[in-house]
Amino acid sequence: MNTLETVNDCRHFRKEMGSEALVLVPTMGALHKAHLSLIELAKKQGGKVVVSIFVNPLQFGPSEDYYRYPRPLEADLEKCRKAGVDAVFVPSAELIYPEGQDALTLVIPPAQLTEKLCGITRPHFFTGVATVVLKLFNLIQPDIAVFGEKDAQQLAVIQKMVQDLNLPTKIVAHSTVREESGLAISSRNNYLKTDQEKEAALTPSKILKRIHEKIANASKGQKNLKEPVFRDAVSEVLSELNGTSASFMLEYLEAVSKETFEPVNFLDKNTRVLIAGKAGSVRLIDNMCLN
Ligand code: PAJ
Repeated sequence: MNTLETVNDCRHFRKEMGSEALVLVPTMGALHKAHLSLIELAKKQGGKVVVSIFVNPLQFGPSEDYYRYPRPLEADLEKCRKAGVDAVFVPSAELIYPEGQDALTLVIPPAQLTEKLCGITRPHFFTGVATVVLKLFNLIQPDIAVFGEKDAQQLAVIQKMVQDLNLPTKIVAHSTVREESGLAISSRNNYLKTDQEKEAALTPSKILKRIHEKIANASKGQKNLKEPVFRDAVSEVLSELNGTSASFMLEYLEAVSKETFEPVNFLDKNTRVLIAGKAGSVRLIDNMCLN
């Protein structure tokens, strides 16, 4: 497995690969089952697989967990080796932001996509993500890049950037990988310490599942299910759960169009329901498509 650390390493690797396809899996490390599943999907695309591991300071707010974000680099490299990854790109913050972050050319995704949902509590997040992903694309020059649907708003921002900036990279999406309990896997799940937090962390996937069931029930025989059915399902599910999930603090629970992220009038297979909230002090997100 090659380890790429500098711009020259990346250029050299790309040249050596010649016309062979490169498939990039961008990550912030602390690799878990879901990352490994993205790597498997990357391998199926044909070509060489590159995993980038970079905890991107630009996408963290000042009071967020940049400094305590887990960085188990040796274990990550071992996982990549075992998974048959061809190269890992492990840049330093100095390589990605040599002049710091203050006078930097940024990629600013459109407000329609970023001023809602996670953008409300994380106003700089998507600019940070889009900027670093474009830099990674320019360094690795991948033909294909794999992203997870767990971070659906991030995925939509990246798809829009690729389309708007005519990037030659094809985006492949991987469905959300879950624990048996339903909990969407995330590096931040390691922050869940107390039994109460672990219990509360199950709430988002429970809510999504119950809403899905209720909407599926309501849709029997009906073609055009209107949006108020979603709102009814939400209030029913929230009152059902009331008391059993006291330590989950809901941040948002919304139905949007999976392509545009605009609010929907009808509920159909193009609707994505997204949820965010806190289990104790740990912020979690999850989503599902109605089908
Ligand atoms: P990170 O949180 O490490 O996630 C890397 C990739 O794994 C992302 O595409 C994310 O959507 C995907 N992923 C994480 N958990 C998943 C799950 N349970 N199911 C499916 N996919 C999952 O997302 C980032 O890093 C960063 O924002 C990054 C894109 C690397 C830019 O810095």
